[in-house]
Amino acid sequence: MDKKKAAERLQELRQQLSFHAHRYYVLDDPVIADGEYDQLFRELLEYEQQFPDLITPDSPSQRVGGAPLDRFEEARHSAPMLSLDNIFDQDELLDFTAKIQRYLQSEATISYAVEPKLDGLAVELIYEHGVLRQGATRGDGLVGEDITVQLQTVQAIPLKLLGEGLDIPERLVVRGEVFLPRQGFFELNQQREEQGEPLFANPRNAAAGSLRQLDPKVTASRPLSFFVYAVAEPTLTPCSDLEELFFWLGRLGFRVNPLITFCQTHEEIRAQYDYLQQVRHDLGYEIDGMVIKVSDFGLQQRLGNTARAPRWAVAWKFPAVQATTVISDVLFQVGRTGAVTPVAVLEPVNVGGVMVQRASLHNRDEIERKGLLIGDTVLVQRAGDVIPEVIKPIVDRRTGSEQPIEFPVRCPECAHPLVRPEGEAVTRCVNGHCPAQRLQSLIYFAGKSGLDIDGLGRRNMEQLVESGLVEDIPDIFNLKHEDLAVLDGWGEKSAEKAIASIEKAKTTSLSRFIGALGVRYVGEVTAELLSRHFASLDELTAATREDFLEVEGIGEQAAASLVDYFSDSSTMEMLNRLLQLGMVIVVPETADNPLDGHVFLFTGTLDKMSRNEAKQLVKEQGGQVVSGISKRVTHLVAGEKGGSKLKKAAAMGIPVLEQDDFFRLVGKPV
Ligand code: IVH
Repeated sequence: MDKKKAAERLQELRQQLSFHAHRYYVLDDPVIADGEYDQLFRELLEYEQQFPDLITPDSPSQRVGGAPLDRFEEARHSAPMLSLDNIFDQDELLDFTAKIQRYLQSEATISYAVEPKLDGLAVELIYEHGVLRQGATRGDGLVGEDITVQLQTVQAIPLKLLGEGLDIPERLVVRGEVFLPRQGFFELNQQREEQGEPLFANPRNAAAGSLRQLDPKVTASRPLSFFVYAVAEPTLTPCSDLEELFFWLGRLGFRVNPLITFCQTHEEIRAQYDYLQQVRHDLGYEIDGMVIKVSDFGLQQRLGNTARAPRWAVAWKFPAVQATTVISDVLFQVGRTGAVTPVAVLEPVNVGGVMVQRASLHNRDEIERKGLLIGDTVLVQRAGDVIPEVIKPIVDRRTGSEQPIEFPVRCPECAHPLVRPEGEAVTRCVNGHCPAQRLQSLIYFAGKSGLDIDGLGRRNMEQLVESGLVEDIPDIFNLKHEDLAVLDGWGEKSAEKAIASIEKAKTTSLSRFIGALGVRYVGEVTAELLSRHFASLDELTAATREDFLEVEGIGEQAAASLVDYFSDSSTMEMLNRLLQLGMVIVVPETADNPLDGHVFLFTGTLDKMSRNEAKQLVKEQGGQVVSGISKRVTHLVAGEKGGSKLKKAAAMGIPVLEQDDFFRLVGKPV
């Protein structure tokens, strides 16, 4: 076939395949047999193989996932992806609606969209001229990760918008939830169990894990789905409220949740809550509550947002799910900092669709407070995606054969005597050479919160330590291809990949490096503060307690811990070895400008810093400060006794930031 004919046929095939995929994955109402679909798909692949330059980004073939990425790029959101405030009972629902009426100074009936709260992952999709161009995770709300190629593999996400004759904006930014249906989750875990891979705790984690795959082919192999629930800029659509919007989005080919309803009264909202709670276990996917949103876009805009969440929406969470089971044993795990954590081994129990077999008992005081014994029947609870918790023993069910939980006096890993410092809840192994701590520190160093070295996850690190190849951090950078290739379960390819990512990790930023070291009381945020203050690693290691205390946001505990850490000769020896092995620590020259494009106006007095300091902070981060109200203002910061500007801002729909929200935004949490 000549190229021109192929191009024509390809267009036809794409159109047909998109139509049928929409019927199948979005409307759940297919009109051809699977076999016929496969036939069309094969034909498409054949032509595209023959004429690769005819492949378009909206071709259904793109859903199988292309070449793996090296890393995720950043994706800045055009408007922040906010979170939602939570309510838990009817009184709080009344507060929510009363506040809205007060704010709007109106008694008029308001229509609310009431939607299931999907327990998956928020994503943003950008369509240009009707074609999916970019997809991103929420990240911190301002900047997420670019996961376009991963999202292209999700069948319910249109690659090209439908709706012949509909007025599609040049640029449309939609938001929604990617999730893994229950069935897909169970099958995936079954498969993983057979292959000896660690299981996902719940569908939400499985969905997150599936999307954060550098190799989109892995994502493509997971049956993820998607529901749309918002657009970034509703005023750019032809719709004036959510009811119109959902109808419109449906016509464009998006999957809209069929359980969305519109309510005017508390009774209606309450009834829908009861209904959703009743049917939640029969749905093919997990929901953890419902979301209530003012439907009208004009009202939404007038209500505006706080820094964290819109004022016009709220999430009404379902109560946590509970179950009873038996504590069959208690293990003691030694963490990176030597903290010994008691972990209850439970008889496996299904808690709201998730099998639970372990629960942290936190520390000795918690065990005593709850009065737990081995052999006790206990109430366990799982709320959303948090780790399961043992609530209390059911004392009536005791038989007399229960045994006390003996807290060890020596480290279960190295037998060094444990200590519990005055006033602390945690019992610790203080042996600096404890193998368990060393292993956990190594896992942390190479893990997601550390240098994020691909191929050196928990299991592989355990293996490297067991085999004696790695004893401390510098050993990681001494690994050779031939060391790895011969290990059990490794091969040429995986060894090559791991060596390449180790090589890549050799160059890193000061903040990331400090964070990876896992110094006590020095988390990601403190590491970032340190890296902004000190010009180099040398300066940092030479700093005194006073120098550290000068850094804003660094307190006594962190300062003391840092001095301790860097005055230890083995730390310095390790750092020197790392540098000798070619580690390069870069200090960013230009600070990033997270507030770029934001225009701030202040009113009232701030009680945590002077207004000048606040202005300085905004400017340092690329934002602008103005003195009068205008449409350009993106944030009004309200201190004590704010004046007329507040009223004007409300009338103009300009978001008002409370002081604390502002301090958080500029990275000075209170
Ligand atoms: S609306 C500005 N609608 O809940 C409104 N969110 O706690 C922001 N979520 O990050 C979100 N179902 O991942 C909205 N029907 C729904 C939702 C929903 C689940 C998630 C979403 C968001 C989180 C906020």
